Amino acid sequence: MRIEVKDLSFTYSPDTPFQKQALSGVNLQIEEGDFLGILGHMGSGKSTFILHLNGLIKLQSGEIDVFDVKLVPDKKNKQDLRKLRGTVGMVFQYPEYQLFEDTVEKDVAFGPKNLGLSDAEVASRVERAIRLVGLDYEDVRTRAPFELSGGQKRRVAIAGIIAMQPRVLVLDEPTAGLDPYGKEQILELITKLKRECSPTVIVISHDVDEITRFADRIVVFNDGKVAFDLPMNELFRHSEELTAMGLEIPRAVAIADKLRARGIDLGDVVNADDLVRAVVRKFGHGNMDETAISKLSASQFDFSAEYGGTAAGGDR
Ligand SMILES: Nc1ncnc2c1ncn2[C@@H]1O[C@H](COP(=O)(O)OP(=O)(O)OP(=O)(O)O)[C@@H](O)[C@H]1O
Ligand SMILES: [Mg+2]
Repeated sequence: MRIEVKDLSFTYSPDTPFQKQALSGVNLQIEEGDFLGILGHMGSGKSTFILHLNGLIKLQSGEIDVFDVKLVPDKKNKQDLRKLRGTVGMVFQYPEYQLFEDTVEKDVAFGPKNLGLSDAEVASRVERAIRLVGLDYEDVRTRAPFELSGGQKRRVAIAGIIAMQPRVLVLDEPTAGLDPYGKEQILELITKLKRECSPTVIVISHDVDEITRFADRIVVFNDGKVAFDLPMNELFRHSEELTAMGLEIPRAVAIADKLRARGIDLGDVVNADDLVRAVVRKFGHGNMDETAISKLSASQFDFSAEYGGTAAGGDR
């Protein structure tokens, strides 16, 4: 079972002066269980691509299979779209703007109710989802969403998607606009949801330091096409090409690249942990254990500063 996208092309406002080709000939397979990161500069087609995965954009050309639902252009597929929306849960950028009910509980219940589930089933899913995203169910259930903090609102919005129990969870820039602590919390939540909730997770981000924290595989969009589709540890062997596409390189990779240019090859490095591990491996201290390495990567290199200082699992 997988998601398979074949030869997908899409043009906004075709045959008008505003015509804009957003995707051209995209081929991609996403396996169940993938933790996929999608990178790409502004306007490269990331959002247009994922909107296709649950039928929010009408297919113009190509073919999309999402597990057992097949979409082809010009097919009347109302039934399929309904099924698809229960299968692929989509958390948009700034999802909190879409909260509209007068209580958190009602808001989270909106999606599962539309799936036609019994009241009891809806209630149990709502409670589970609110707890899963780390909110205090008893405290927030009857509160109005607008009374909550930005980070809490975002959790409520995510809970509304989780409550539909999608097999695939897609998040578009899930940490946009949050402070470092809020970002860190959402990143931890995504990892937890992958483990406990939706086996397949797709995250769009333009922040490479963030995406290297969790994704196993990265797809890079450039100008409406897939430029790279690689396991995380191989992607940054292409740092020059990525830079040319307007993408940043993780700081750990930049340091490793500079050392390589000076004749010190540390192998594939993606994040601060890798960098410390590679340095320790290269220069001795063979008796350092994983905890010591994590501590060193968090403190000496202080890559975690942007994430509220919790990158190595510290608590706050
Ligand atoms: N509703 C629309 N009407 C016309 N053109 C659009 C529309 N939405 C997106 N586009 C154009 O399609 C291209 C791809 O946009 P898309 O939103 O998929 O990019 P993105 O990679 O998600 O960008 P960002 O990082 O800014 O979110 C861009 O050139 C964009 O200007
Ligand atoms: Mg986008």
